[in-house]
Amino acid sequence: MDTFYITTPIYYPNAEPHIGHAYTTVFADVIARYKRMMGYDVFFLTGNDEHGLKIQQTAERQNKHPKQLVDEMADVFKKYWKILDVNYDHFIRTTDDYHEKTVREAFNYIYNKGLIYKAKYSGLYCVDCEKYYALGEYIEVNGKPYCPLHNKPLEYMEEETYYFKLSEFREYLIDLLKDKDIVYPRIYADEVLAKLEKEGLRDLSVARPVERVWWGIQVPFDEKYVIYVWFDALLNYISAIGYINNLEKFKQYWRNVHHVIGKDILWFHTAIWFSLLKALDIDPPRKLIVHSFLTQKGMKMSKSIGNVITIDKLIDRYGGPDGARYVLMRNFNMDKDSEFTYEIADSIYTSELADTYGNLIRRVGVLAQKKSGGKVYRRTIDVKISEAINEKVHSYIESMENLEVAKAANEAMSIARLANQYLNEVKPWEKSDPSKELYTVLEAIRMTTILLSPFTPRATSIVAKAFNFNIVNPIKTSLESVERYNITNAPILFKKQPVEKKDEE
Ligand code: MSP
Repeated sequence: MDTFYITTPIYYPNAEPHIGHAYTTVFADVIARYKRMMGYDVFFLTGNDEHGLKIQQTAERQNKHPKQLVDEMADVFKKYWKILDVNYDHFIRTTDDYHEKTVREAFNYIYNKGLIYKAKYSGLYCVDCEKYYALGEYIEVNGKPYCPLHNKPLEYMEEETYYFKLSEFREYLIDLLKDKDIVYPRIYADEVLAKLEKEGLRDLSVARPVERVWWGIQVPFDEKYVIYVWFDALLNYISAIGYINNLEKFKQYWRNVHHVIGKDILWFHTAIWFSLLKALDIDPPRKLIVHSFLTQKGMKMSKSIGNVITIDKLIDRYGGPDGARYVLMRNFNMDKDSEFTYEIADSIYTSELADTYGNLIRRVGVLAQKKSGGKVYRRTIDVKISEAINEKVHSYIESMENLEVAKAANEAMSIARLANQYLNEVKPWEKSDPSKELYTVLEAIRMTTILLSPFTPRATSIVAKAFNFNIVNPIKTSLESVERYNITNAPILFKKQPVEKKDEE
């Protein structure tokens, strides 16, 4: 069986996740569910990035030991992923022993290759980004250097540190980014290439003196230093699948690894991550999938800007995980930011999930029970209808393979639209024996349900159970393959959400 390994970024547990984080995680879950349905052996990884100054300072402010904070927050993140039906295979925490061991060994390995050296650093740092800022990368406010992302003053620092010889990888990175279809969409590779060509590449400080940052993994041969949080965090992608303790498993999954990230952390996942992998003599990832931001009033939704919508609110408004997942994915965008408004989300939810899919299920369920006691036997479907369904299945697969989830969800939904239209035309409720019409529409329901299942797993499994069919690989099943439907229930799946005219918050 072919393997498919998909990862999300590991999140900073300094605050609860919001729908911006859910945007990435649900996307990865949709792809993971789709790949499982297509028969892949999938490993889906998410988790938390628990070390570093940001967490250390958050814990200080809350009068807690950082370990207590990250333990509590790991439960909070897991709770939200569960509420959203995110079906990950492993939740990594960078305080896990096996991960810390991997980071120390990787640091040693790179040091022993002569790619880490000690020298003095002076420059600027943003704690919220956990990032070093060079001239030209920051903005100035009242003559002071500010972080352009967080709009906060940068810290000046001067210290002895360990450097990673990142500058040595410039040519390697340029070749990789030019030649390989490694970053998707391609525009992000071009963005990194432009930066590499224009600004070059400086060596990277990969440690902090312990008196400044004590919450992290010690440099294995120098207890006065703690390893830089990004060096530590990026390695989660290899430690989680057994880089140190299960090489067999590591090889099996690494060869088809797909990282999903937001565009804010593109540089770390290209320049730094690809170089670290090269330094470790590990192949680059198969694909880096980059998406843009979910915005509110044009600004990235984020805790520090204070414009977040909570996951609870979304779940509550859209009647559970399916509605929340669906509105996020129907708005998903790779290269353009996506503005979240209740107006758009309400209308997508109500017109597609409630009025189109939900209504179809209810109406056909009731009708089949009334007309034939719920039993519907195989009949031949009109060629026009079966061709239309097959064509939509085909476009859905194509969209999913291209990672265009918003388009794919729409293709799946369009089969339900077609079925509603067909019902209105053939009016089975007026016929004494509508078995052909019912069978036709049930096959449409089966296909739309299979295709929607990665997006709305809860509702679709209710339907599959109530109508007695299986959710299977859509290219391994064909129309007219079900001999008999036995409809035992006509579930009401989604309550309408009246469309909010102006955004309330
Ligand atoms: N801990 C680092 C990542 C380390 S990965 C080895 C980090 N964490 S984070 O908590 O800040 O999460 C960043 C990710 O959350 C983004 O890259 C993105 O995937 C997601 N998002 C957070 N807010 C978002 C939006 N408003 N819109 C879209 N994605 C958002 O960076």
